[in-house]
Amino acid sequence: MGLTSHDTNLLNHLFLFSTIFLGLSSARDTITPSQFITDSETVTSSDNVFKLGFFSPANSTNRYAGIWYLSDTNIIWIANRNQPLKDSSGILKISEDGNLVVLDGNKSEVVWSSNVSNAANSSTFQAQLLHSGNLVLIDNTTGKTLWESFKHPCDAAVPTMRISANRNTGERIRFISRKSVSDVSTGEFSATIERLDAPEVFFWINGTRPYWRTGPWNGRIFIGTPMMSTGYLYGWGVGYEGNETVYLTYSFADPSKFGILSLTPQGNLRLVRFYNQIEVLNMVLENSKCDVYGLCGAFGSCNVKNSPICSCLSGYEPRNLEEWNKQNWTSGCLRKEPLKCERLKKNRSEVGQEDNFLKLGMMKVPDFAERLDVEEIQCGTQCLKNCSCLAYAYDAGIGCMYWSGDLIDLQSFSSAGVDLFIRLAHSELGNAENRTDRRRSKRLVIALAVATATITLAICAYLAICAYRSLKRTAKHSEIQSQRMIEVPKPDKLDELPLYDFEVLETATNNFHLANTLGKGGFGPVYKGLLPDGQEIAVKRLSRASGQGQEEFMNEVVVISKLQHRNLVRILGCCIEGDEKMLIYEFMPNKSLDAFIFDPLQRKNLNWTRRFSIIDGIARGLLYLHRDSRLRIIHRDLKASNILLDGDMIPKISDFGLARIFKGEDEVNTKRVVGTYGYMSPEYAMEGLFSEKSDIYSFGVLLLEIASGKRNSSFRNDEESLSLIGFAWKLWNEDNIKSLIDPEISASGFEKQILRCIHIAFLCVQEVAKDRPFMTTVVLMLNSENSNLPPPKQVAFVQKRSPSIFKSSRSKENHCNSNNHVTLTDIQGR
Ligand SMILES: *[C@@H]1O[C@H](CO)[C@@H](O)[C@H](O)[C@H]1NC(C)=O
Ligand SMILES: *[C@@H]1O[C@H](CO)[C@@H](O)[C@H](O)[C@H]1NC(C)=O
Ligand SMILES: *[C@@H]1O[C@H](CO)[C@@H](O)[C@H](O)[C@H]1NC(C)=O
Ligand SMILES: *[C@@H]1O[C@H](CO)[C@@H](O)[C@H](O)[C@H]1NC(C)=O
Ligand SMILES: *[C@@H]1O[C@H](CO)[C@@H](O)[C@H](O)[C@H]1NC(C)=O
Ligand SMILES: *[C@@H]1O[C@H](CO)[C@@H](O)[C@H](O)[C@H]1NC(C)=O
Ligand SMILES: *[C@@H]1O[C@H](CO)[C@@H](O)[C@H](O)[C@H]1NC(C)=O
Ligand SMILES: *[C@@H]1O[C@H](CO)[C@@H](O)[C@H](O)[C@H]1NC(C)=O
Ligand SMILES: *[C@@H]1O[C@H](CO)[C@@H](O)[C@H](O)[C@H]1NC(C)=O
Ligand SMILES: *[C@@H]1O[C@H](CO)[C@@H](O)[C@H](O)[C@H]1NC(C)=O
Ligand SMILES: *[C@@H]1O[C@H](CO)[C@@H](O)[C@H](O)[C@H]1NC(C)=O
Repeated sequence: MGLTSHDTNLLNHLFLFSTIFLGLSSARDTITPSQFITDSETVTSSDNVFKLGFFSPANSTNRYAGIWYLSDTNIIWIANRNQPLKDSSGILKISEDGNLVVLDGNKSEVVWSSNVSNAANSSTFQAQLLHSGNLVLIDNTTGKTLWESFKHPCDAAVPTMRISANRNTGERIRFISRKSVSDVSTGEFSATIERLDAPEVFFWINGTRPYWRTGPWNGRIFIGTPMMSTGYLYGWGVGYEGNETVYLTYSFADPSKFGILSLTPQGNLRLVRFYNQIEVLNMVLENSKCDVYGLCGAFGSCNVKNSPICSCLSGYEPRNLEEWNKQNWTSGCLRKEPLKCERLKKNRSEVGQEDNFLKLGMMKVPDFAERLDVEEIQCGTQCLKNCSCLAYAYDAGIGCMYWSGDLIDLQSFSSAGVDLFIRLAHSELGNAENRTDRRRSKRLVIALAVATATITLAICAYLAICAYRSLKRTAKHSEIQSQRMIEVPKPDKLDELPLYDFEVLETATNNFHLANTLGKGGFGPVYKGLLPDGQEIAVKRLSRASGQGQEEFMNEVVVISKLQHRNLVRILGCCIEGDEKMLIYEFMPNKSLDAFIFDPLQRKNLNWTRRFSIIDGIARGLLYLHRDSRLRIIHRDLKASNILLDGDMIPKISDFGLARIFKGEDEVNTKRVVGTYGYMSPEYAMEGLFSEKSDIYSFGVLLLEIASGKRNSSFRNDEESLSLIGFAWKLWNEDNIKSLIDPEISASGFEKQILRCIHIAFLCVQEVAKDRPFMTTVVLMLNSENSNLPPPKQVAFVQKRSPSIFKSSRSKENHCNSNNHVTLTDIQGR
């Protein structure tokens, strides 16, 4: 009952017709035997996030069929990675034998095939691109999945993918790196899940030589990857399917989070994280020298902080001292003293003492762990009973692990890792313990001597020590600290504001990478970052010369961090190290207001109701700064790019309080550091006088910008070179103010409220500062729809080509007086 080709064509046309008729916006997510895709077409997952189609990597003209997330710079799967198409004749289709194939359309040649099916009847097969980014080939009659791209990955893993291995058959899924960024063919590095009794991830060179390993999974982290306990690999886990299959997964509870973990051509992991489909992090997790598998040979241990990095375990010595001293560690180390079992082998009547264990803390455990199902206290005793057991470790998530044979790929960390107990001959252990014993006994003798000498003396000494300590603490606190690691400040401060390590922020922001820049303000650039616990942050790296000492800076930040309001960006902490001063803020996924109201596409997403709630939020935040906070802060740089938007589009004022910190500097150069052209009130711009009323002026400008969708600073009106305020004022006086309203706002029903906002804006930008309302009044005016507003007096605006002259549209008043009533408010307000 097969369809003739004529019928198929007819069906195709029908389908085409219906798609056109129903609107092409509902892009299809399937490929069927009758519908293939060509080079210029794509298949889209139904949520519009993943696409399947043809792409060329950067700097390459080769064409590949693949799947990408959002854009083809985020490739998650490639079909014909080793058989590139040289032209755009490629076709992706379901072949007669039921396989998904990539054809070279010009030569009619299959360049890639899913190689799973040899069905006689494939007319019911379809390939679908799922929400997860998985491309599945299914037989529609049985619903059976024949093939899926998640089981045949390339170099990238995404959430819900299962990177599995089969205990019985030994089959495993292998990730293989590209040759280079622009050559996607299989490269040197690959990754698999291994050691399935205590699973861990192995990275290989050329498929067979281990390159590095993560250490076993303990239910929470891979214990040989300190990066893991800091959370960069947050989302990873190991799971089991039945008793045969072990798999690695990647998942986030929060569906707005997404990540791509890929293997770089150099064998490192690259992590790209998204939040609400916005890229928030893109970093390469560089390996350390010590991560190279087995670098220090058998019984050698690596520590990046040491020089040389390799050393023999305690009780061991280099097997070949000459090589070892030349930093060739491949032949490893040997035990100095034979263990009891070894001695017994030589002399059956030998009755020396039992071996014992030496504890090594914060270690990466050796490869080839074996497991024993016993309690923690039994772990060591069981190991002693077995002559081939050379070391053990216990992890609550894994249980008792022990090692027989060479101990290989050990590493000593400065944090994380586990306690590893190595077996040594009793005499050898005696050596190690004697040393500490002697030290301990010496200390005891001294203590006894002091105690028995005279009690009074001891008390005096004790008091003296206390006094000295407290003196030292105070002195240390006020001294400028230039060490890399900052001393912890007084506990009361610490409770209130966390201090971050420079190194943590450096890693979190990928070394303050340009690609992580969120913006650049008057006080320094802002970077996005990902903290160890998976939290996204914004890091403001303050320009160096704030003229403040560390102590003052810290005080200031602590005080500012106490300002908390729904419409202020929250400060999470700070970092002071040497010259570096940084503030850590919560991350705002929706960026700043200017990215919406001035963007031709985004502004459509901001209807009037949203805009008004943003205006209201800004007003409340500003009111809090001016009046309700105990500091009475004048922002001095209020503008659209300083209004950040959270996931719910709630506006948050940022950079508040920085004017306080930088007060030393802005006296030197007011305009460079604080204030933005177009938002500055005349008295501030011309005379450097600022007060609450200069913030009100900026707020007025912001109101006009939000209502009109036009930027005050770059406003251009062809007739006259007026600023936005000037232009609006002209329309107001011509009784044509309605034409100012952003045409993208569906204004119907809201016109009255919009015009009221514009009216309030005019009141805020009045030339005479004392005429401008206070924030309290502004909030009232915004929220009481029916009260009457006073008519605006003269507004102040800048004429485009002569920015230093402030003009009034009708120069009846003598505007030279405009500064007379402005009071200079001390920003150091109490
Ligand atoms: C293939 O399957 C379809 C639907 O089940 C059926 O109509 C058709 O006759 C089959 N063709 C052959 C050659 O078996
Ligand atoms: C592509 O080529 C340009 C110019 O040779 C080079 O600057 C750029 O880094 C290349 N990009 C990639 C991804 O290799
Ligand atoms: C097909 O191949 C011919 C010769 O090999 C070439 O001239 C032509 O441009 C190719 N067609 C396409 C669509 O690339
Ligand atoms: C499919 O099978 C052919 C022939 O056995 C082989 O050359 C090709 O590499 C296989 N393709 C894939 C994607 O496994
Ligand atoms: C497979 O089944 C679904 C639902 O039953 C149907 O919508 C779709 O068209 C079918 N696809 C093919 C290729 O038969
Ligand atoms: C992997 O194998 C290739 C080809 O045999 C070789 O050129 C390359 O050096 C090997 N890579 C490493 C890191 O050993
Ligand atoms: C797991 O293993 C047990 C015994 O080895 C066996 O009886 C059981 O069927 C297995 N379960 C699965 C899901 O394979
Ligand atoms: C290091 O020592 C091993 C074993 O003796 C030897 O095979 C290797 O060539 C040496 N490597 C170097 C770089 O000297
Ligand atoms: C074997 O050990 C016993 C007891 O330690 C000792 O007396 C004896 O001399 C040893 N024999 C040899 C051959 O070393
Ligand atoms: C001792 O350990 C080895 C290596 O794991 C193992 O093969 C052997 O069965 C163990 N012996 C005893 C008595 O448990
Ligand atoms: C360790 O102490 C024991 C007894 O306390 C002593 O016999 C032994 O010689 C000491 N070893 C060293 C190396 O000092």
